[in-house]
Amino acid sequence: MTKTYKILIDGKWVSSESRETFQSLNPATEKSLGKFQSGNENDVNQAVDAAERAFEEWSSLPAPKRGEILFHAASLLRQNKETLARTVTIEMGKVLPEAKGDVQEAIDIAEYMAGEGRRLFGHTTPSELRDKFCMTVRRPIGVCGLITPWNFPIAIPAWKIMPALICGNPVVFKPASDTPLCAIKFVEILEKAGVPKGVINLVTGSGDQAGIPIVRHKNVRCISFTGSRETGLQIIKDAGIKRVGLELGGKNGIIVLEDADLRLAIDGVIWGGYGTTGQRCTAASRVIVQQSIKEKFERLLSERVSRLRLGSGLDKKTDVGPLINRKALEKTHFYTEIGLKEGAKLLCGGSPLKGKGFFYHPTLFTDATYDMRISQEEIFGPSVCIISVKNLEEAIEVMNSVSYGLSSSIYTSSMRSAFKAIEGIEAGLTYVNSSTIGSEAHLPFGGVKQTGNTREAGIEGINEFSEIKTVYFDYSERLQKAQIDTG
Ligand code: UN1
Repeated sequence: MTKTYKILIDGKWVSSESRETFQSLNPATEKSLGKFQSGNENDVNQAVDAAERAFEEWSSLPAPKRGEILFHAASLLRQNKETLARTVTIEMGKVLPEAKGDVQEAIDIAEYMAGEGRRLFGHTTPSELRDKFCMTVRRPIGVCGLITPWNFPIAIPAWKIMPALICGNPVVFKPASDTPLCAIKFVEILEKAGVPKGVINLVTGSGDQAGIPIVRHKNVRCISFTGSRETGLQIIKDAGIKRVGLELGGKNGIIVLEDADLRLAIDGVIWGGYGTTGQRCTAASRVIVQQSIKEKFERLLSERVSRLRLGSGLDKKTDVGPLINRKALEKTHFYTEIGLKEGAKLLCGGSPLKGKGFFYHPTLFTDATYDMRISQEEIFGPSVCIISVKNLEEAIEVMNSVSYGLSSSIYTSSMRSAFKAIEGIEAGLTYVNSSTIGSEAHLPFGGVKQTGNTREAGIEGINEFSEIKTVYFDYSERLQKAQIDTG
């Protein structure tokens, strides 16, 4: 019998008012993991009301005390790391060591943000007038609507929930419909850690039924969303004058120059291109290689790609797990066909694996040009293309030729080339001599151009979830006029 899971509103696990449910599938076996509530506008309204009611108490709790709850959450996450990671693998598909990494990222951000409870710094600065004190203080924003993707079903919710909570905001959390079970397990841990009722509310369901009502709700003050560009654009239209943080993907590249350590560069391409089955916003889907080493590089890389083992994420021998669902499998294959039509040369993969599960053979194209669709559009699957260039200048031009600007990387032994790349690449992240993936919790994460408009994690995560109030404190005991009495 499949279990039916509930949603969390005001500290109670309840059924949706819709009386409807949906299923979540294990992408390796296509077996159902249970039934989940199809949350709707009524559920969202109740969740927002509960969050509003909880706001005053939560925001007036001293931030270091909120931090204690987050430290407790971090320690519970650590205790439950193995079980949670298995849930991630079973529901999302990534291989178990990566699933543990997903949980570890949540632990890291929980600890970082818990510590922020004792900082939450503002600044002080002199006034232009005598006997006047100027400072900034951080205030919470209010109810935060957090809408998260399935590819990091524990880490990304944590990137958003932890800073939102430490800044004193209550949360309405809507996870991706492909990973509701991970979200429930994560929220159960937050409850156990002592996050009070109403401060964390969880509504599962579709973007249309549950996501849009959150975005449109007049009492939701802030939206943070990671996901597709189409949905991001819709959110911008619907949100009105709310604070909106968007993280909308990438078409990230790795530049490999002729003076690079090739063995290292190939390790980086394998990890960035095929890790998480290519399903990271930061995945390396383009390799921009200097012409002089193209043939050797192609040969070495395709040998490695063809040896990657496709299989269940629970199997220790697996390198590449399944895609999230059938649609993703079809999308990856659609791009293989487009690449072939456009004239790129297929070196490896290019087809789905027969049988149960959403498996796609790790795919490598070469002789791609920068303007082909496979070089411009986000595939979000295990598909990488090689583009060859004359020199560093052309490599940077190709890197910047896409509409996204999230992550980037360069392999070179020249410091000059590395610094030129750091300077010239339009992206939120540039890695030197390592792959495009693997950001750390205490550093800002986000992109430029059509990737998004925000930075998450690190101190920027605090900026995302707090309002800055400017305070002028005049102790002169007379009317002082700024800009007038100064001359
Ligand atoms: C994402 O795919 O949306 O840097 C996030 C990385 C991870 C986060 C990826 N820490 O690859």
